[in-house]
Amino acid sequence: MTKPLVRAESPIWQSKAQLLSEALGLGYADAGSRNEAGLILVVGERLHLENKKGLTFEIDFDEDHIHYRQKQIGKKNLLARALGIEKGINQVVDLSCGLARDAVLLAQLGFQVKAYERCAVLWTMLVEAQKLSTRPEVHGIKFINDNSLDVVSRLSQVERQNQSFYFDPMFPETKKEALPKKEMQIFRELVGLDLDSVEVVRRSFEMKISRLVVKRPRKAKPLFRDPRYCLEGNLIRYDVYQF
Ligand SMILES: C[S@@+](CC[C@H](N)C(=O)[O-])C[C@H]1O[C@@H](n2cnc3c(N)ncnc32)[C@H](O)[C@@H]1O
Repeated sequence: MTKPLVRAESPIWQSKAQLLSEALGLGYADAGSRNEAGLILVVGERLHLENKKGLTFEIDFDEDHIHYRQKQIGKKNLLARALGIEKGINQVVDLSCGLARDAVLLAQLGFQVKAYERCAVLWTMLVEAQKLSTRPEVHGIKFINDNSLDVVSRLSQVERQNQSFYFDPMFPETKKEALPKKEMQIFRELVGLDLDSVEVVRRSFEMKISRLVVKRPRKAKPLFRDPRYCLEGNLIRYDVYQF
């Protein structure tokens, strides 16, 4: 996990960049300074990340480069089925928002989505990209910067029962990554490994949440106990727990 420095793209973005560096508790880098941190959050009209190799990465919900616009999705979509769309469930809590590709897909399918991301830099990029998006379904997503372990621990009885929960922690690196190489490299540098992921599932079990879907590589062991059932895709599997 790398803590980026913040830099303005040009002088007109300096005050916004300084405000963000204070809000995020990150150091400020002057224009032209060397990329000592490993990652720089560059502030312009859009935010983007830049790593030491000069690779860049930004979030743009209106563009399809990292699959924000999936065509031909419907109620038969595997994730939607795992979350209970056919049983009339229409509220989903995404406990691992990441780049929000799944959150956007679920919003597109008509789910009301609350998406939690614990990395404050990533959350800021999501919120800023949301402001610039022209897609109504993207504006319907509630992005929240919090740790899901705490979120699950605080749930009321009604919240545990009336919505489905989705958890997609980082997988160990594989040959076939879910993102193009450049994006995956920077994303991994930013968020690191989710070494505590089993705790989120264990806490969901202790809290008896009614439906939790965990995404796993197809051949991997379940994160925690045997699920009630699984839905398998070509490369991944959704483990459905009903505690
Ligand atoms: C594999 S990515 C999720 C990808 C996402 N499903 C998508 O469609 O783009 C995992 C993300 O979950 C976040 N995450 C993991 N554990 C978390 C937790 N306990 N609370 C909040 N966010 C968490 C990580 O920071 C990372 O950004």
